[in-house]
Amino acid sequence: MPSCVVDWKTITGFVTEAFIKYGVPEADAKICADILLESDRRGIESHGVNRFKSMYLDRIKAGVQKAVTDFEIVKETPTTAVVDGHDGMGQVVGYRSMELAIQKAKEYGMGMVVARNSCHYGIAGYYTSMATKAGCIGMTGTNARPTVAPTWGTEGVFGTNPLTLGVPTDEPFDFNLDCATSITQNGKIEYYDRIGQDVIPGTVIGEDGEPFTGSGGEALKRIRQGSAALVTVGGVGEALGGYKGYGFALFVEMLCAVLQDGFFCKQLNGVDENGNKCAPRLGHFFIAIDTDHFLGEELCRKKAGDILREVRASRKAPGAERIYTAGEKEYEIRMSRTDGVPINESVQGELNDVRREIGLDSKYTFPWD
Ligand SMILES: NC(=O)c1ccc[n+]([C@@H]2O[C@H](COP(=O)([O-])OP(=O)(O)OC[C@H]3O[C@@H](n4cnc5c(N)ncnc54)[C@H](O)[C@@H]3O)[C@@H](O)[C@H]2O)c1
Repeated sequence: MPSCVVDWKTITGFVTEAFIKYGVPEADAKICADILLESDRRGIESHGVNRFKSMYLDRIKAGVQKAVTDFEIVKETPTTAVVDGHDGMGQVVGYRSMELAIQKAKEYGMGMVVARNSCHYGIAGYYTSMATKAGCIGMTGTNARPTVAPTWGTEGVFGTNPLTLGVPTDEPFDFNLDCATSITQNGKIEYYDRIGQDVIPGTVIGEDGEPFTGSGGEALKRIRQGSAALVTVGGVGEALGGYKGYGFALFVEMLCAVLQDGFFCKQLNGVDENGNKCAPRLGHFFIAIDTDHFLGEELCRKKAGDILREVRASRKAPGAERIYTAGEKEYEIRMSRTDGVPINESVQGELNDVRREIGLDSKYTFPWD
């Protein structure tokens, strides 16, 4: 059966209600649903409804993630804060942390909030968009379970660690570079697995140091077993600068642990010191810089727009139709996806299971019914 499109109203209502049935308070469920579905709106299939059940509902059910988020501010100054998420919903920790960083930036020029004991917070670019919409430059990053190898290594020792950067512009879309520091990330490989596609050669390295070639499913299996690892941006070895992506990834790993006394690297593999299954124990950081504390939002937006326009207007490679700037593709997909979210066959089955389990069979109908 091909993908079916579920309209935004239906999928938003369903996802929100499912989070609530799983124990997430209503206000938090709305935040979680918005972040999850914003991923689909932007065309980032790897982090949207595809992961709704496996990444969030299944983890709540397994007891490794709490549905109710105790967002504790452990230490605070006018411009900084350390928060503890106590294994609650990562999206709620992320949303409230960036909100706090923006409040501080609006008052004092800059705000930085670091979080520990959080869970998967979804697309990092959601939080930089919160900052840019408020007229701030935004930065965020998160650590993740260890699946990425350092330059000259073959063992997954740190996460796909997105380093995500946003700048407000005068265009309809802000600059928003939202990507992992590995060439590809686990969500994309899960997606390849779901649609039966092979991984792109050079993105995964085997324990023999050779590029892995094969299906998304086989790559996932080997990465989980530890006999293959993802490769950092720049690629295997030093020739194409793989050590640059490696350095960016380590910077993120450090900002997600050193200021907040958080867990890092292999401590994030879902198993505690006694060998028992445990919470993801993730760390994140959030930075907001208010443009009005410099020469003003209007000037900043205009100048940033001028830079992007000049870059996009530069000479194109033969055969290339256009030059993009970060955030542009997601904006265009968002504008075109007015009807709803395309849902593939395997996720259709997952949504059917969730609907039956929480007793919403008569309330929600899907196009594949
Ligand atoms: N929470 C986590 O643990 C975690 C971990 C890794 C990734 N992620 C998320 O996964 C999502 C996808 O990450 P990814 O690494 O697959 O991203 P990706 O490789 O698809 O890159 C996306 C970024 O590159 C920009 N881009 C794409 N083509 C471009 C072009 N031709 N010119 C200029 N810019 C271009 C996009 O605008 C966007 O900012 C992100 O939202 C990221 O935050 C989350």
